[in-house]
Amino acid sequence: MLIQFSATIAPDHALAVLVGDDLALSAGAKGLDASSGAYLTGALKKAGFTGAKGKIQVLSALPSQSYASLIAVGAGALSDLNGLVLESVAGSLFHAIKSAGIADVTLDLTGFSAEQAASVRFAIALASFRFDKYFGQAKRDKGPTLKSVTIVTGDVAAAETAFVPLKGIADGVLLARNLVSEPANVLYPQSYADILKGYESLGLKVEVLGEKEMTDLGMHSLLGVGLGSSKESKLVILQWNGAGDAQPVAFVGKGVTFDTGGISIKPAEGMEDMKWDMGGSAAVSGTMVALASRKAKVNAVGIVGLVENMPDGNAQRPGDVVTAMSGTTIEVINTDAEGRLVLADALWYCQDRFKPQFMIDLATLTGAMIIALGTDYAGVFSNNDDLAGKLAEASKSVGENTWRMPLPPQYEKQIDSKIADIRNIGGRPGGSITAALFLQRFVNNVPWAHIDIAPTAWTNEQRVTTVPEGGTGFGVRTLDALVKAYYEN
Ligand code: BES
Ligand code: MN
Ligand code: ZN
Repeated sequence: MLIQFSATIAPDHALAVLVGDDLALSAGAKGLDASSGAYLTGALKKAGFTGAKGKIQVLSALPSQSYASLIAVGAGALSDLNGLVLESVAGSLFHAIKSAGIADVTLDLTGFSAEQAASVRFAIALASFRFDKYFGQAKRDKGPTLKSVTIVTGDVAAAETAFVPLKGIADGVLLARNLVSEPANVLYPQSYADILKGYESLGLKVEVLGEKEMTDLGMHSLLGVGLGSSKESKLVILQWNGAGDAQPVAFVGKGVTFDTGGISIKPAEGMEDMKWDMGGSAAVSGTMVALASRKAKVNAVGIVGLVENMPDGNAQRPGDVVTAMSGTTIEVINTDAEGRLVLADALWYCQDRFKPQFMIDLATLTGAMIIALGTDYAGVFSNNDDLAGKLAEASKSVGENTWRMPLPPQYEKQIDSKIADIRNIGGRPGGSITAALFLQRFVNNVPWAHIDIAPTAWTNEQRVTTVPEGGTGFGVRTLDALVKAYYEN
């Protein structure tokens, strides 16, 4: 689908205009109302349309007009139409024209700023995401008929300029959604690393460590998880250098390309969901692509631990003891608590090599996080109030919901082992918290936050107009906003 800016209204498209509360007309709506002899306002009144935010009214065009149809887009209060509200309204427009079977639509944003036009284009790029690459022709033909969205704005060049950084962020979000949507026979550690290698063209430095290199580094916590898989485990290190020799910020992601549970195997029902157990790594990859695409003035490191958790004759067993890169010994009580084993070595490696200003990991770590917060909030655990506060602000600014969780030292005893330094599960009470406490054991005096995105990496229904059903790309926008607000110089 084509999304573009234009200075002029195409006469044969459907024509959409914004209408505010109490039928307050935007400049475009005023023009249309005048040229139609007040047909627009008359028809909207008859239809009981008030301009309430997100409501859409499709009208047939007058015989004297060549427009395919007229669309009033309810925008609520026109005066503060910015950021998330504007995105939400643009997303509503997109879904309405898609269901109405319209082929080409022009949205007249005359009178709005270049930034507002860019926000609308960004929102439509996010809202229109579809993962349809595995549909055959017949299914494809039955798909949406929408071909193009044109945004009319006074200064096309200014709108294009304002859109450049947003395009980078959209590319990052869509990459994350695509990665999360891919089935595990297609996306496994090597194929994933190959995809990331492709982003060197953006100026990212991409290094791939295999099992040999990780063995030399002593990463037996991560490596243990991949023992049962025929696919080689990988650690991919992405670097964006946009700020000379400044201390980097760092993001670390859980990239379990499929989680069967291993020998502690999961039940069959719903196991297919575990193709998206690499959602944390997808968010990290998407963030690095966003930062590189918009040439962020920051040094950033993204590390993803890519492993497939399978049961077979070589798989690790419950009760095995592994030694992590940090030297900590871990008793693996349950092979299904594998994400923390992957992150233990990825986190340690990250701080050891890069000495970052802070380290944020993202992971679909625990089912317990969904039980605790429901499907709309990711849990944030942090050893640093300043970082946690900034993260909360950043996530709020982009409409990705997060909620801070505690790291109570008195729960540490739940992960104490009788034969090793630590065990990899802490029992049912506070399951997400003990998982986070486990990770904290591998964080050494650096501001750190862990975001458990098990609730939000995937959605079975569209709840936000810019986030369709399926992979959400959750985390990319938050991390990008965090960097932009606090860490660019
Ligand atoms: N990947 C899962 C967590 C998960 C569950 C993410 C559902 C998204 C949706 C993780 O590896 C896991 O299996 N965790 C176990 C931990 C338990 C064995 C302590 C869980 O949540 O049951
Ligand atoms: Mn698991
Ligand atoms: Zn997992």
